[in-house]
Amino acid sequence: MAKEYKRHTITAALPYANGPVHIGHLAGVYVPADIYVRYLRSKNKDVAFVCGSDEHGVAIELRARKEGKTPQQVVDFYHNQIKESFSQFGISFDIYHRTSSQLHHETASDYFKKMESDGKFSVQISEQFFDESEQQFLADRYIKGTCPNCGYEEAYGDQCENCGTTLSPAELKNPKSMLSGESPMMKETKHWYLPLDEYEPWLKEWLLDGHKEWKSNVYGQCKSWIDNGLRPRPMTRDLKWGIPVPVEGGEGKVLYVWFDAPIGYISATKQWADDTGKNWEDYWKSEDARLLHFIGKDNIVFHCIIFPTLLKAEGSYILPDNVPANEFLNLEGNKISTSRNWAVWLHEYLEEFPEKQDVLRYTLTANAPETKDNDFTWKDFQTRNNSELVAIFGNFVNRAVVLTHKYFEGKVPARHELMPIDNEVIEAVSKAPSKVADALDQFKFREALSNMMELARIGNKYLADTEPWKLIKEDKSRVETILNIALQISANLSIVCEPFLPFTADRLLSILNTKKLQWKAAGGMDFLSANHQLNKASLLFEKIEDKDVEKQVNKLMETKKMNEEAEKGPEVPVFKEEIIFDDFMKMDLRVGEIKTAEKVEKSNKLLKFTVDMGLETRTILSGVAKHFTAEEMVGKKVTVMANLAPRKIMGIESQGMLLFAENSDGKLIAVSPGIDAQNGATIA
Ligand code: 2FM
Ligand code: ZN
Repeated sequence: MAKEYKRHTITAALPYANGPVHIGHLAGVYVPADIYVRYLRSKNKDVAFVCGSDEHGVAIELRARKEGKTPQQVVDFYHNQIKESFSQFGISFDIYHRTSSQLHHETASDYFKKMESDGKFSVQISEQFFDESEQQFLADRYIKGTCPNCGYEEAYGDQCENCGTTLSPAELKNPKSMLSGESPMMKETKHWYLPLDEYEPWLKEWLLDGHKEWKSNVYGQCKSWIDNGLRPRPMTRDLKWGIPVPVEGGEGKVLYVWFDAPIGYISATKQWADDTGKNWEDYWKSEDARLLHFIGKDNIVFHCIIFPTLLKAEGSYILPDNVPANEFLNLEGNKISTSRNWAVWLHEYLEEFPEKQDVLRYTLTANAPETKDNDFTWKDFQTRNNSELVAIFGNFVNRAVVLTHKYFEGKVPARHELMPIDNEVIEAVSKAPSKVADALDQFKFREALSNMMELARIGNKYLADTEPWKLIKEDKSRVETILNIALQISANLSIVCEPFLPFTADRLLSILNTKKLQWKAAGGMDFLSANHQLNKASLLFEKIEDKDVEKQVNKLMETKKMNEEAEKGPEVPVFKEEIIFDDFMKMDLRVGEIKTAEKVEKSNKLLKFTVDMGLETRTILSGVAKHFTAEEMVGKKVTVMANLAPRKIMGIESQGMLLFAENSDGKLIAVSPGIDAQNGATIA
């Protein structure tokens, strides 16, 4: 029999705070984790569900360089955006923390110091590429050169994006530093290594012998890593952005991001415990606690081999009991790609399908890449909504509630003598919740979802078979029994659908006018007593029209076209048609200074500026909200087209136009006169 744990420590991979989150993240990690946690909570279990932003690493440093920002500015922006997206989708973390916090820095530093003083690292000197003019060692991603495999000239030091080969920087032909563009030299550097090779026998015993029950995709990947032989792995890096190596000789170096990120689970738990008066060690150092990591397949080695080895080496922590990793979700037949904008971004989905979080949660679970990569298509999204959520779940609940209002003024009728069909349905309902639970206990979320829908199907079929609307005239007492049963099934649904569809469960409870019910009660038939007053019926799901999904598909086609054009390489610039001098002289361009800036309500594109133009102040609207925040624009000198006829946009008069340059990647830059230029001065 499976061990009964007192506490559950559930972690979801910390997303890198260098871009927004998309449906692949939700499907692979956060929705399954959230379903599982909601299920545990409904069973009254003691759970710590922790996550946060992963804010270190080379990718973030590179992005900041590219955007002319500090890494902290980059992670601040995305941390907030990601946190908001998760919360909007009902991902019910107990805490969403961040690795640039002081508590995390302290936790990771202390962990490293303890391991160092216990002699758990081996210190090794190796030669690495060094950029002399920048006086900096180069991370693999900071080096570009020619791929030895396919001859692609822009291959990175760790991978060629053209042929996919994994590389080490020394293999590149003609390597160049991406910082200075110069050829780097080799220089000796010291690093702290985790001697994974020494832990091989232990890993074989703990993981390969002890966790044969793990999902086959996870177990298989671990086995192949271990069978190929493990090598010591450096836990420090020569980088600027990160947690400084806290021991002697570590000056100028930081902890490897994959050392500090999983410790982020621990620091998040500490912060949560501090905030709520709990003891964090109960969740990390007690054999009564069960540790589970929800991750995507690219994180398997870190969570199944490296982090457990770090936990084992430190010595006082529990080890993960399971790591139910998923494979990847593709989008309309292609790999999701942030750089190619081939994704459905959560913040955009929320704008375009407001209040439809559960539809996406449902589709992503029904199609979860549990055992192999899977595909998300907008057509499937529409079908799942229209033929399953609307036609079965929504239709059933709506009929039960509407008929109760129609015949019994919204009061739950009593149950009388039962017919065989009633008994069959009651029996089937009593068995349904444990089918959902059994699947969830094995991390089979697709199966669990389909078992949940089975309950809605049972209800829908029951009403279709008994046709209470035809019986009302001749046998009111029979209709009372049927509707009572249908409403009790609806109450059951509110329990078993909650982990998957939390927003729907809330709406359903409000229609039934009852409090949240616990998992252990599911299967019963006495949630709503006779005469209990229901609230008004309202639709749980609405049909999604063809035009709504066509719009999404077209958007992706646009992206595809743009990607193809970008791949063709830069085009010869095409200038607009020639104008004469007099046309040019008609334009009144002036220096302005932005005094205030704010987002225009109900618009996700427009910013409203007040611009000081010397003699007067103007209100000007610009469609640049996707490129700039209001705050960053305040104080900027700008070029204003001053004699453009005023125009009303969203009820606000815009008195001129601000000029922006557009880079080839679509990024806008304000055309800014120098700070010495006086406000109102003519530009000619
Ligand atoms: O792959 C990623 O997005 C990583 N940021 C995941 C980190 S998980 C954990 F270790 F923090
Ligand atoms: Zn290549």
